[in-house]
Amino acid sequence: MNRMRLLVTGLCVGAAAVSAWSLNWFSGQLYSQDDGPGALAYRPTDDMPPRVDLASVQRDWPASLGEAGEGKRLIAYRHDMQGKMPTSTAAGGPVRAAAPPPDLGTLLASANVGEGKAKLQLCTSCHDFTQGGPNRIGPNLWGVVGRGVATHPGFAYSPAMQAHRGSWTYDKLFAFLASPARDVPGTKMTFAGLRRPEDRAAIIKYLATLGTGAPALPQPKVVALNANGR
Ligand code: HEC
Repeated sequence: MNRMRLLVTGLCVGAAAVSAWSLNWFSGQLYSQDDGPGALAYRPTDDMPPRVDLASVQRDWPASLGEAGEGKRLIAYRHDMQGKMPTSTAAGGPVRAAAPPPDLGTLLASANVGEGKAKLQLCTSCHDFTQGGPNRIGPNLWGVVGRGVATHPGFAYSPAMQAHRGSWTYDKLFAFLASPARDVPGTKMTFAGLRRPEDRAAIIKYLATLGTGAPALPQPKVVALNANGR
């Protein structure tokens, strides 16, 4: 009986010792002793197969990709292409988005008064431009810039012109001289109009010098230039 108890006790102690040891071993496997408590001893990268087979992905890439210096070659290619992109038209002018037409202030600022005076020949068959001069087929136009529309004494204006109202501002003259019939439908000024904005600006700038009633020239609009100065 005594031997039996001894054996059982021995087995129990042995089992306890074994389980204690194995627990200790197991936790030792989980937590590395070297890296301090809490550090995972098992590192996923150690001998796990890679999730993505990089080699097979690279096989699908163009052969040159991934070679040393590839980045530099790509940048060089972009530079090269920029040089070859169409930057000029067949006529040799630079390619740019359709620029908005210059504003009247800008046109007037660069307009040449002498040119305007010369262009007045287009008008002198119908208009006199001297101070106190006569009305002809059209009214006398001395000091017309800033003058009331259809207000020159002694001239029989059309009902259309009388209905045009206001005074001859730079803008109003600019629009009228482009196409009188379109701007003032029914006008009796049978003149096709001046297609070129520069010509209109030049004539108007000269007209403003006749008399003292003309308002100051409109200021050119400041246009923001892009980095290329275009
Ligand atoms: C074929 C003749 C003819 C020519 C050329 C002509 N005009 Fe006229 N113009 C007229 C007549 C006619 C009127 C009156 C219009 C009306 O009453 O409808 C007029 C009116 C005007 C008016 C309005 C005057 C006011 O008192 O309200 C202006 C401004 C004007 N002309 C400018 C010009 C300019 C600038 C030119 C030259 C680029 C020109 N015209 C060429 C016949 C002409």
